[in-house]
Amino acid sequence: MINKKSFISSGFKNLISSNKFSSFAKKSYVNGLLGAIGNTPLIKIKSLSEGEFFLIYVIKLKLLIKETGCNIFGKAEFMNPGGSIKDRAALFVVEEAEKKGQIKAGGTIVEGTAGNTGIGLAHVCRAKGYKLVVFMPNTQSKEKVDTLLQLGAEIYQVPPCPFTDPLNFNHQARKYAEEHQNAVWTNQFDNLDNKLAHFKTTGPEILQQCPKLDAFTCSTGSGGTLAGVTRFLKENSPTTKIYLADPPGSVLYKFVQERIIERTGDSSITEGIGQGRITANMKDEIENITEEAALHIPDAESIRMVFHLLDKDGIYIGASSALNVVSAVKVAKILGPGKNIVTMLCDGANRYASRLTSKSWLESKGLFKEIPLHLKKYIIRE
Ligand SMILES: Cc1ncc(COP(=O)(O)O)c(C=O)c1O
Repeated sequence: MINKKSFISSGFKNLISSNKFSSFAKKSYVNGLLGAIGNTPLIKIKSLSEGEFFLIYVIKLKLLIKETGCNIFGKAEFMNPGGSIKDRAALFVVEEAEKKGQIKAGGTIVEGTAGNTGIGLAHVCRAKGYKLVVFMPNTQSKEKVDTLLQLGAEIYQVPPCPFTDPLNFNHQARKYAEEHQNAVWTNQFDNLDNKLAHFKTTGPEILQQCPKLDAFTCSTGSGGTLAGVTRFLKENSPTTKIYLADPPGSVLYKFVQERIIERTGDSSITEGIGQGRITANMKDEIENITEEAALHIPDAESIRMVFHLLDKDGIYIGASSALNVVSAVKVAKILGPGKNIVTMLCDGANRYASRLTSKSWLESKGLFKEIPLHLKKYIIRE
């Protein structure tokens, strides 16, 4: 068990004070839009947390627990200026590339992205005067594409294909950067500066906001968030349990269970998460996730959580963030009452509204029937 006092007054405190995001809290303003990245609030999700014990008499005395009996916290990454968790990684990969001399004034940043990293990079590029070129699978929401266009990115929407195929969006991004002067491929999936962003900012913020942290759970795209936070917690809060949340179509759940690369399920409505391989960012940390600590979350549970959170808490988050919250609730049930559990609220549902609130789209995914009657009022489009 870590000694909280010495921990706060030594290594952790130093890390916090050297953490450029956290230090902003002490000032009355931030320097430009990029200064607003990080330092997101930690929100206690009341509808899932308020689990007092109720004693009720039925035939004999029964102990019932309302909701989870745990505190479920969501880190409000949708409040980053680019609207998602990926702003942190975007800023870090660009600034580390600058430090390494990989990019000079007026250069081009190139990235393969499901959209959110691209949006984060687009803000960084506008602030720093770089051009941005993104390659993204043509399956992503229109809202993300529109935002990228408005922010001035050059976009190539390409058919999705496996990483082993040279036409995979990441390889196309790498090739573009290789073929252009003063261009750098930031390579979010395998560039460890992504993980570093979360090791240096997200992890310390979470532990500062929730010093008695029993468990952390999160899904992965590049793996930067889970890996960076996990590494930080392993070093600074070793009793915190880590749970991987995985959507249908991803290989990570099976990998943790059986050490084989095989998808569980076909595909998912979630965007930005789910993997077909073990990225460099995930490699070291996934080895430490025990088999009972991988949770496969079906889309039906994620979509129900999107509307539950809107209905009960006024929190309007995307399906992948809802999947994270479903995972936190499952962790609460595994660990039992009285625990503090943190997960990530990665982006807002407006980024997917034309899909998530469309009856025909939900029907095409077989999910309309999964939404309880009292929540169907949120499906405002035919
Ligand atoms: C929309 C979205 N983007 C990204 C991520 C994860 O990001 P990464 O693994 O690339 O750090 C998540 C994780 O929950 C997510 O929901």
